[in-house]
Amino acid sequence: MSQNGPGVTTEQLMQIAMEMAGQTKFPADSRIHVPGKNIKKILFGIDMGVAELLVGKELGYDCVMAHHPDPSVQTFPEVLDLHVDIAVRNGVPEDEVRPVIETMKRNQRLVRHSANYDHAPSFARLLNMPYLNIHNPLDEIGRKRMQDAIDAQCGPDATVDDVMAALNTIPEIKDAPTNVELRLGKGSNKAGKTVVAHGAGTNGGAPLARVYFRNGVDTLVYIHIGAAEIPKLAAEFPEGKNLVISGHIASDVAGINPFIWRLEEMGIEVTRVSGL
Ligand SMILES: [Fe+2]
Ligand SMILES: [Fe+2]
Repeated sequence: MSQNGPGVTTEQLMQIAMEMAGQTKFPADSRIHVPGKNIKKILFGIDMGVAELLVGKELGYDCVMAHHPDPSVQTFPEVLDLHVDIAVRNGVPEDEVRPVIETMKRNQRLVRHSANYDHAPSFARLLNMPYLNIHNPLDEIGRKRMQDAIDAQCGPDATVDDVMAALNTIPEIKDAPTNVELRLGKGSNKAGKTVVAHGAGTNGGAPLARVYFRNGVDTLVYIHIGAAEIPKLAAEFPEGKNLVISGHIASDVAGINPFIWRLEEMGIEVTRVSGL
């Protein structure tokens, strides 16, 4: 496909991301708000709302694509179930992780229930601008990239510093304005079993970290965490356990870039904005 070719549809864009993530189920936190076809020029950013739709229209783009879900994506809470899959794959018993995730889902349902379910999408329709968000598949690509970097570079004697160095071999993370930060534990600690808990909607806070730490995981990687969660973990796990924060936007970009490279290989022009 080239820029003179037929371009892609919004459905194909979603399909390509899902295929790259190894997924067959339509992601609950992603949505095609306004479908489009013959797309050859995309304005792509992490957060894209009404103003960005207007910029896209003004500058002649065929499609505006966001990473983060719009508040209108009412099914967002369902994507949190993926935390259960990731935890179980890493040895956490399902009956311990499931209640934590059910509480998160309940809270998210309350948030979504009160959100404006048709703000930005209504403007995209008015502008007749194809508009979608692709969240989970791209986060899954990023999760795998981060976990693979750690697994490839950290042997049984690796320290937490080595885990952080492994994350910094990903250029998007190394070159970002944010640094990889250690929020619990010590760099000289043995890393032990290390899990990247990302690619499931949002971070699981202290309650999810707790079930990992109680079930054989010594070092946990989140891409972000709320400030209030850290003292809770520090009180419960004063030594030995480690929480590494890789950086929100940098880690999002690490998952999004491989997808953009694929589109560019297909001859689609992608303009990166809003953190990309
Ligand atoms: Fe993300
Ligand atoms: Fe994000």
